[in-house]
Amino acid sequence: MCGIVGYVGNRPAAPILLEALRRLEYRGYDSAGMATVSGRLVVRKDRGRIADIDRKLKLVEMPGKVGVGHTRWATHGEPSQVNAHPHVDNAGKIAVVHNGIIENYLEIKKFLQDHGFRFVSKTDTEVVPHLISFFLNKGGNLEESVRRAARRLRGSFALAVISAEEPDKIIAVRQDSPLILGLGSGEIFLASDIPAMLQHTNRVLILENGEMAVLTSDRVVIRKFGSGAEVRREPMVVKWTAEMAEKGGYPHFTLKEIFQQPEAVQDTLRAPPEELRRLAKFLTNARRVYFVACGTSYHAALVAKYALAKLAGFPVEVVISSEFGEIGSVDGKTAVLAITQSGETADTLKAVEAARAAGARVACLTNVVGSSITRMSDLVCCTHAGPEVSVVATKTFAAQVAYLLRLAVEVAAARGRSGPRCRRLASGLKSLPEIMRKNLAELDPRVRRLASRLLRAEHIYLIGRGIGYPLVLEGALKLKEITYIHSEGMPAGELKHGTLALIEEGTPVIAVVPPGGSRVKIVSNVEEVKARGAHVVAIADNGKDLEGHVDELISIPHTEELFSPLLFIIPLQLLAYHITVARGQDPDRPRSLAKSVTVE
Ligand code: AGP
Repeated sequence: MCGIVGYVGNRPAAPILLEALRRLEYRGYDSAGMATVSGRLVVRKDRGRIADIDRKLKLVEMPGKVGVGHTRWATHGEPSQVNAHPHVDNAGKIAVVHNGIIENYLEIKKFLQDHGFRFVSKTDTEVVPHLISFFLNKGGNLEESVRRAARRLRGSFALAVISAEEPDKIIAVRQDSPLILGLGSGEIFLASDIPAMLQHTNRVLILENGEMAVLTSDRVVIRKFGSGAEVRREPMVVKWTAEMAEKGGYPHFTLKEIFQQPEAVQDTLRAPPEELRRLAKFLTNARRVYFVACGTSYHAALVAKYALAKLAGFPVEVVISSEFGEIGSVDGKTAVLAITQSGETADTLKAVEAARAAGARVACLTNVVGSSITRMSDLVCCTHAGPEVSVVATKTFAAQVAYLLRLAVEVAAARGRSGPRCRRLASGLKSLPEIMRKNLAELDPRVRRLASRLLRAEHIYLIGRGIGYPLVLEGALKLKEITYIHSEGMPAGELKHGTLALIEEGTPVIAVVPPGGSRVKIVSNVEEVKARGAHVVAIADNGKDLEGHVDELISIPHTEELFSPLLFIIPLQLLAYHITVARGQDPDRPRSLAKSVTVE
């Protein structure tokens, strides 16, 4: 998975491309490169981080007012100079950047090799400039040749193509990988996502699957690459500002986004009530309801499962997207809610595709307007967390939970169950952002001290019950992703069924103790691990009664049980962040992970 950018206008392209690439680095950062046109094609690329490559190759000084760039996360061919994008044709006239995977590249490569084309890289992408060149040699212009090439490709591809022979344009193509065009005055931008261009424009056009666009400095012409038919589309205005996509004074995006959670929740709670009502109706009209999601979004879905059960007596099956094909039992009376902050997670898109094929109706909850999932759904619902740059999801989790709590209230109403608790919840939700703000400020220094004591742990176990269970799963995921400490979250009741054998003198155990019925039981689970010498940290609702029973206590002011996910997740996120920084690691760029997982 990678990020691509492009610029055509009246300013030097290189500094604009470089800055846009820097903003897309979260999509991949094992190599990068740029190509510009200035009389001839100029290409510079290498393995490594963009800043280092720029220092070495002076990307910023590349000439020309038209160019494309790429930041890579290898899928075919190891990270190396030769495998880095842009890729060029044998004549050195066409440059291509690509995000996605070309599934039939071996077959195309063989065809091109048989026609005398030489390949230098191990990538799937390199077939593209050669294929375009093949069609150009047959007499077409650039647009027509790209179109013919696109029709031969199978798989997922967002492409940007420039040519020394037609130096005033970029040709963009989209199939199953995101591609956004930004409209400036006398200049057009292209990128894999919106924040990469926000400092220049907030007027965007989102290319759809099966479309290509010809970009010149003052014009965008969109066509279907299958039929060649022109597509008319009005640009949309994005409300995000460039500053929203910046670090805003925090040392890392991860910390900034943890602190942005109250705002993310506040904005999400402003989602149109009709949207919530439509979603509640969509779910309650179905005979069977599945929530599908991956990673953090899956944990938000589990929180919703508890909330819907407790508040509305409404059962849903929550399934990890990549397993849905194995166990989903779907027909025309099934409703599927796909939860995905990016809207681009391949496993979730595939689950939705399968559900649709079996006749189910699909709704989605996403943070990215115009993302792929929105085009596959009968009903589109949005969280409003703003752009999340850090690889670890934090504020989008809070936004998803907030939205889904509101949904639980709506579903309860739709089922005639809006009793006093429901009304309390509905009005209490509004005060949550302020409580979260206060919690963040108070918890941060305390959790930082706790982090300094846990930073050398080899294993951390997290236990929770009820609505605390999805939280310990999410806490463990945060710890794994950025601290690299082995962490395991489990229902506290499961300890005695096996994991207790791993608890010995000094093993760190974090007990998440929200308010609610299961509190008494988890206190006895704490005793169980204490008896085996565990170092127990409790994160507890009004935890006074736990003093003396645990080694450390992080007490959270009392709140309604169903609000606790939004408060209890904060110390777990902060803990992962502070341990990571104390270990000298970069929380914004965890090894082996990327933000959007657009491959299965
Ligand atoms: C969360 O910290 C992870 N980076 C990851 O598990 C993520 O939640 C998962 O890939 C799902 O992403 P989505 O919400 O964009 O579909």
